[in-house]
Amino acid sequence: MPDYQIRTLDDADIAAADALFLGTLHLPPTAAEQLDNLRPSYVPGRALGAFDGDELVGTAMSYPSALAVPGGAVPRMGAVSRIGVRADHTRRGILTALQRRQLSSLVEQGDVIATLRASEATIYGRFGYGVAERVRSITVNPSTAEIRPDLPRVGRTRLIDAAEAETLLPALYEQIGLRRPGMMTRPAGLWGIWRVRETKLDGLARTAVHTNADGVADGFVTYRAVKSGGFRAELRVEDLHGATPTAIRELWRFLIGLDLTAVIKAGSQPLDDPLEWSLVDRRAVGVDGVTDSTWLRLLDVSAALAARSYGDAEPVVIELVDDLLPANTGRYRVGADGARRTEATADLVMGVAALGALYLGDVAPSTLAENGLITWSGEPGQAALGRADRLFRTPTPPYCGTFF
Ligand SMILES: CC(C)(COP(=O)(O)OP(=O)(O)OC[C@H]1O[C@@H](n2cnc3c(N)ncnc32)[C@H](O)[C@@H]1OP(=O)(O)O)[C@@H](O)C(=O)NCCC(=O)NCCS
Repeated sequence: MPDYQIRTLDDADIAAADALFLGTLHLPPTAAEQLDNLRPSYVPGRALGAFDGDELVGTAMSYPSALAVPGGAVPRMGAVSRIGVRADHTRRGILTALQRRQLSSLVEQGDVIATLRASEATIYGRFGYGVAERVRSITVNPSTAEIRPDLPRVGRTRLIDAAEAETLLPALYEQIGLRRPGMMTRPAGLWGIWRVRETKLDGLARTAVHTNADGVADGFVTYRAVKSGGFRAELRVEDLHGATPTAIRELWRFLIGLDLTAVIKAGSQPLDDPLEWSLVDRRAVGVDGVTDSTWLRLLDVSAALAARSYGDAEPVVIELVDDLLPANTGRYRVGADGARRTEATADLVMGVAALGALYLGDVAPSTLAENGLITWSGEPGQAALGRADRLFRTPTPPYCGTFF
């Protein structure tokens, strides 16, 4: 690569780094009065800049987070964001240099896993990221949607104002907890960046909180009402979490009961979302599509494999290839009793992106093998694939529910 330098960014670089990143997304820079909300997202040591001489031409940063994995452990995770290279410097290897530096620095900081949301699906596989969680987007017709009468209302749902939401939501998200594999902790910087984003979006954002029969808050929804003439608005569900399926259902009851709503759209719901099963007319819910959400990159493969639990099957030996973090390359025995390094003969061979994809149970090893992303040989290899399917399978699909 030519003379680009990568260094960590400090406080003085934040405005320029933010403007550069937003520019790569064709967005204007953040207003000066919002910089205080922006600042906590640039955690010291976690923001990197690529410089051409004195000029900043690329950025990459990460939030300190943690991920709920199958079995309930919550290993440390770097949530990678703000990746951008200035338009007049693309395709010269700057992202590659940033990725190399970022991945090794995340390892040094003790993160076990990295995650990101990809603007384009063709960028990150080469850096060892695989799609580990997908979401469905739905459209709900409020004029035909009605919760089944045999599911009585539980607790109550109340609207809160922006000031209350600012303090209540982070605490409530924490209290709800990482209730299923794929969910992540939300550092303060993330809530700050959402406040910044809020100042830039059209439409009216509202937050409602559900309290259970004992008066304890157990769920929240943030939605945006967007009008395009006339009285009725399109409601866009942005953030919806509940401690229980009942809390989530009650939040939906609230949404579909809102007056002057033309349509409700929710862009990132779990694949096993039970909403239509709660309705009198299940066709009030239309599925618009399924898209990739969590891209996962295992940074410390030993620690990541040891962190999750496995299904009931005889063990398999995986030969893992990781060109960018070669310390991970090697063989791992994965069994019902856990995972560890081994010298035994490998049953299956895969790259680290494939292992990231199957890590949370979203895709079966045999599906990846059908497409050449996992290789094996002979009948023993075929049998090992069946065991791997049972080992990596999880009772529910993963769901994160946090976009950043
Ligand atoms: C995506 C982006 C960061 C890539 O930066 P870059 O410095 O051009 O990337 P590199 O030159 O290091 O490219 C590395 C490889 O990825 C490929 N690549 C990079 N961006 C790509 C894209 N958008 N689509 C397909 N391939 C891409 C390159 O062709 C290159 O392939 P090669 O190694 O086979 O030659 C840059 O194009 C950008 O800022 N895009 C707009 C903002 C954005 O989408 N950011 C990501 C947010 S998640």
